[in-house]
Amino acid sequence: MTAAGQSTGEISLIILAAGQGSRMNSDLPKVLHELGGQPLFAHALAAGNALAPARIVLVAGHGAEAVTKAAKALDDEIEVVLQTERLGTAHAVDQARDALAGQSGDVIVLYGDTPFVTTETLEAMQAARAGGADVVILGFDAADPKRYGRLVMDGKELIRIVEYKDASEDERAITLCNSGVLAANAATLFELIAQVGNENASGEYYLTDVVAVARANGLRAEAVTCDEAETLGINTREELAAAEAQLQALKRAEAFENGVTMTAPETVFFAADTFVGRDAVIEPNVVFGPGVTVESGARVRAFSHLEGCHVSQGGVIGPYARLRPGAELAENVKVGNFVEIKNADIAAGAKVNHLTYIGDASIGERTNVGAGTITCNYDGVFKHRTTVGADVFVGSNTMLVAPVTIGDGAMTATGTVVTSDVEAGAMVIGRSPQQVKPGFATRFFEKLKALKAEQKGK
Ligand code: UD1
Ligand code: MG
Repeated sequence: MTAAGQSTGEISLIILAAGQGSRMNSDLPKVLHELGGQPLFAHALAAGNALAPARIVLVAGHGAEAVTKAAKALDDEIEVVLQTERLGTAHAVDQARDALAGQSGDVIVLYGDTPFVTTETLEAMQAARAGGADVVILGFDAADPKRYGRLVMDGKELIRIVEYKDASEDERAITLCNSGVLAANAATLFELIAQVGNENASGEYYLTDVVAVARANGLRAEAVTCDEAETLGINTREELAAAEAQLQALKRAEAFENGVTMTAPETVFFAADTFVGRDAVIEPNVVFGPGVTVESGARVRAFSHLEGCHVSQGGVIGPYARLRPGAELAENVKVGNFVEIKNADIAAGAKVNHLTYIGDASIGERTNVGAGTITCNYDGVFKHRTTVGADVFVGSNTMLVAPVTIGDGAMTATGTVVTSDVEAGAMVIGRSPQQVKPGFATRFFEKLKALKAEQKGK
């Protein structure tokens, strides 16, 4: 047995995500169900990521291919290892043994289906490690301990963890329960796991047994406790919905604390990573998808939907606006009703106020985009860019057939289909000349009415 040693400061994360989650009744692996616009496992990961881990190992099993893809999409540095047989939590952690061979410092084990553990709590566990505990378990006092593992304490020292199935009546009366989160030196943890057997009621290799094994090796285990709400695990869709409500409540409270005004906070839906600055106003029924930043003093008006976008100071968005990924709005940009913006830079002071689609484009400073303007960016196979300069007046119902560039200070006449570049300061008009035929409408309708009367008479 090597000395457990103090924490070296370097941290690795192991995230357990091999379970099927059969109670979700889903083809999708449990950890890929979304919470706050992100896959479930991303939340525990984010809490651990705040500790700047050197390594992150995700243990996948059920739906491993999809889980791997989602993990890589989130963070390219995540290493995924496979647990092909589900032989228990110690066995799951053991799958990370090779990946972390020779890794110095500590490991923190997290569950992919337990999203609310906070960074502060993980820091408290690190502090307990630094204070001399070789194994630190995160416990909580359960209102209804149900089938959780029970922490058997002797003063500050954690003696062992007993699973509900294996517990005596006296042990089942303990309300201090195991959350599943664990911290230990990496090398020590794998040595302890190697000594864990599976002679228990479930025939599984319990990670919880490392506590008793540590003691048998002359090491010390302690428990750090947190609020029960942090340890909430998701097993069913109903629990997922309850977790979503909990996350939304947290995000709304965080927004208020940051100085955001919301008149109907219960109707505003955040993603886990939404950032809204001080003195911004979010009107009712606004939905944030992932990756949104709204800067100080901006206003998002009712019924708008934002994802993957950036709204700068002084911006006014909506009502009924849709900002899609890559919408980058500079200061004092106005985006009005029924406007969709995707993968486009809108420069300071530009206005796109009504019924418009701007995609794969850049719009210059102070340019006014008239009602009903469309960037025709897609030819059915490829996407093309539209570049509109500064101080341009884009007339209503302009079709900008990309790739196309409009120079600074130019204008487009209402109803123009712009198919080639327009130089600075020019006016482009592309529509058929108006013809007026005096008396035509009167004669035409008289003729039709007469025809109808004749048909009725038959
Ligand atoms: C586990 C703990 C229990 C604790 C409870 C908290 C053990 C033996 N028991 O029990 O003390 O109170 O969590 O929720 O650790 N997993 C794998 N591979 C496996 C087994 C599990 O990846 O072979 C993953 C699951 O997907 C899940 C987590 O580990 O994310 C916990 O597994 P689960 O079966 O839910 O453990 P519990 O019986 O709830
Ligand atoms: Mg469980």
